[in-house]
Amino acid sequence: MIDLLFIVALTLTEIHFGVPLMYYWYAKTKWLPKPWNIKTDKNYTPKVTIIIPTYREAKLIENRLDNIYNQNYPKELIEIIVIDSGSDDETPVIVEKWASKHKNINLKLIKEKERKGKANALNHALKYTTSNIVITADVDATWPSNALREALRWFRDPAVGAVSCLKGPTHSGPVGVEEGYRHYYNILRIAESKAYSTPIFHGELAAFRKKLLKKLGGFPTDIGSDDSHTATLIALMGYRSITPETLWIKEIVPRKGYHAWRIRRAQHLVQHFQKILKKAIIKTSKRNNGEAIKTFKTILAIEEYLHLANPWILAIAIILLLIDTLVFNSFSALITLLLGLTLLSIKKYRVWITQQFHLITATLKNAWSKEIIWNKQAKQLD
Ligand code: GDD
Ligand code: MN
Repeated sequence: MIDLLFIVALTLTEIHFGVPLMYYWYAKTKWLPKPWNIKTDKNYTPKVTIIIPTYREAKLIENRLDNIYNQNYPKELIEIIVIDSGSDDETPVIVEKWASKHKNINLKLIKEKERKGKANALNHALKYTTSNIVITADVDATWPSNALREALRWFRDPAVGAVSCLKGPTHSGPVGVEEGYRHYYNILRIAESKAYSTPIFHGELAAFRKKLLKKLGGFPTDIGSDDSHTATLIALMGYRSITPETLWIKEIVPRKGYHAWRIRRAQHLVQHFQKILKKAIIKTSKRNNGEAIKTFKTILAIEEYLHLANPWILAIAIILLLIDTLVFNSFSALITLLLGLTLLSIKKYRVWITQQFHLITATLKNAWSKEIIWNKQAKQLD
């Protein structure tokens, strides 16, 4: 008798692994080699406002400010706004001290009494910004000294609405998993950016044209993914949201609670894609339907599929294989399951499976907490 359950499970497994592999192959061969088609200028140095949101960052904030101070960018063109949401540690005091020692750079500290989350704080800070370009800078990130120049040169072209970075972990925490995950993702980010725009941004360095932020009414406060969501809306407005291949930053990966951290971030990404999906269904867009926007809609559709549906296809396949093994004594199902387990010894495969597990857990967790205000993860510099 044909083992129908097994055939269905196998087909689902093929879809689960096949779609992302095909997308990766397509993006890498068709989009990645493309020219940017953006007029950039290395000597373009506009005035810029860097917003640093802080919540209990006493350990890291001084380093972060030093890191920005050491950018090879004219200091008189930099405005720093630190927006602190009622930290009960030394954060605000350290910032004030730092400012008094570095009078040749313009720094404003805004202290909120109550903590309402990162996006809320960014919107609050936005009111005080005096430049046309605004960059968000998380405290746990370290930029190379040319990061500002690398990010800002793209804004010479009016077609560019937002620029973000690629991420690599600093050497603390479970770097292996994080690096493996980043490789695949970084290639996709660059390829999508070259094709038109990428729907995934990183708040560790995310630069936006202020006029577009204003049009959007600021960063979204009902979902966690302020960075990616804003970038996607800007791309849908007809501007490019890109992550250039030359702009890399380092991010501290927590040693403890790595999975909880990744799940929370996955929760935010899921919220972002769900919200975009709803919008796209409600507004069957009559607006700007150029080639570029069409490409972006394809990118969005695939990324939505990869984040919202694909992990579940794997989960269903595993359940079917288990039923087939336990209830129907299927030998093929058992072998497939064992093969799946054995492959976990290969790092790339393990990284992928971990990510699927994070996305599934994230979607379930979103049902009871959206984690718009999140616990501080213990992080430290090496
Ligand atoms: N003012 C303020 N108020 N700042 C906050 C708050 C808040 O309630 N919560 C967090 N922050 C600050 C942190 O101090 C840090 O500088 C930055 O926001 C990012 O917080 P992390 O705790 O490092 O979060 P993450 O790295 O896991 O978050 C990532 O995902 C988020 C969305 O999913 C980053 O990419 C964020 O940029 C992104 O917003
Ligand atoms: Mn962070």
